[in-house]
Amino acid sequence: MNVLVIGNGGREHTILLALKKSRRVEKLYCMKGNAGTAEIAENVGVDYMNIEAVKKFAEEHPEIDYYVVAPDDPLALGLVDELEAMGKRCFGPRKNAAIIESSKAFSKDLMKKYNIPTAEAQTFDSYDKALQYVREKGAPIVLKADGLALGKGVLVCETLKQAEEGLKEIMLDKSFGAAGNVVLVEEYLKGLKYNPGEEVSVLAFTDGKTIVPMITSCDHKRASDGDRGLNTGGMGTFSPCPFWTKELEQEVLKTIMIPTMNAMNAEGRTFKGCLYFGLMRTDKGMKVVEYNSRFGDPETQVVLPMLKTDLMDIFEAVTDERLADIKIEWEDGACVCVVLASGGYPLSYVKGKEINIGDIGDVTVIHAGTARKDGKLVTNGGRVLGVVAKGKNVEEARRKAYSAVHKIEWDGMFYRTDIGVKYREG
Ligand code: AMP
Ligand code: GLY
Repeated sequence: MNVLVIGNGGREHTILLALKKSRRVEKLYCMKGNAGTAEIAENVGVDYMNIEAVKKFAEEHPEIDYYVVAPDDPLALGLVDELEAMGKRCFGPRKNAAIIESSKAFSKDLMKKYNIPTAEAQTFDSYDKALQYVREKGAPIVLKADGLALGKGVLVCETLKQAEEGLKEIMLDKSFGAAGNVVLVEEYLKGLKYNPGEEVSVLAFTDGKTIVPMITSCDHKRASDGDRGLNTGGMGTFSPCPFWTKELEQEVLKTIMIPTMNAMNAEGRTFKGCLYFGLMRTDKGMKVVEYNSRFGDPETQVVLPMLKTDLMDIFEAVTDERLADIKIEWEDGACVCVVLASGGYPLSYVKGKEINIGDIGDVTVIHAGTARKDGKLVTNGGRVLGVVAKGKNVEEARRKAYSAVHKIEWDGMFYRTDIGVKYREG
């Protein structure tokens, strides 16, 4: 089979590496890709947000058998619907199911209607009414722009003053554009043992009939050590989550995952693809913080390397709605990903810095914002590389990952030094 993966980041490079191991995959393509994907796939210079351009490319390339749509924005735009209408086979939800991520008001209403545990929230399209409600509730409180905002449309406000300013930013100043026309004002969820609360990301394959959780992972969204600084797309991940147990998995399947799959079916919005559950462990059990309609980034970087089953077999089983028939197996042990970013990220940063990578042994370097310029590897984004190492436990994987990090450098490179230490039990 010839397979095209849509997207440019570390997640897409990781998906391509997993597909490269498939005994059934012959040639890989990536639209548009980066310097890392170029080493294992043919990069295609078409803008994937331009649906007509993607359709034209698909028409001209009948040799491509399968499309994987990985990022949230083309999913929300309905790229899967368009490709399927041309008779192409795809991995990823249709537009009417991708709404589970692209509208936080939709997903909150869905959880309320089907009794799926989540934070209490109210939705507002009026600034004055939202302000009145925020003042009634007081801090801490969480504000969320309804639409897609590059993972940055959530403000966790510790004081009423922050909340009042945040509301103005989202609804009046429109810092997240139209995504902030509607705002969710949400109860602050406290963790069971840690502050800020303990979160786990659970990605799951689903074909709308069966839902199969993958191994768990934990993200690090803040830019600086100790979960301080600005929110980012994710500065590192590790797998598995230390507080995850078989019992917790059973609870989450029963109270969250299966009910979500059934709810989407009942709404006529069957979800097929990878459904991402961002969960918080609270004193009242596991609750949903967010849904994503896709693989997480950088969660994928520590999950897919542990997959033993052929990923192409799983993708096709989802497309053909026979996920129940295949057995999905994982390696034992742990995996850690340390993200290396450009100085200044998540605010402004410069591109085009030359990257030097020394001898890093069996550690994998995943490319996100990279490019080739005059044959040299250079930075081309905020999150540039993900350094991924496996070990028999998180501590061993963490040591290996950081030894490799110390052999990579460019002018302005920064990273967190504490990936893989949180939530240590006992
Ligand atoms: P999201 O983009 O929805 O994942 O939110 C970004 C981050 O904000 C989450 O990973 C949490 O750390 C935090 N967050 C979101 N909602 C809540 C909530 N209701 N209570 C506490 N923290 C939250
Ligand atoms: N790492 C969080 C996300 O992919 O949304």
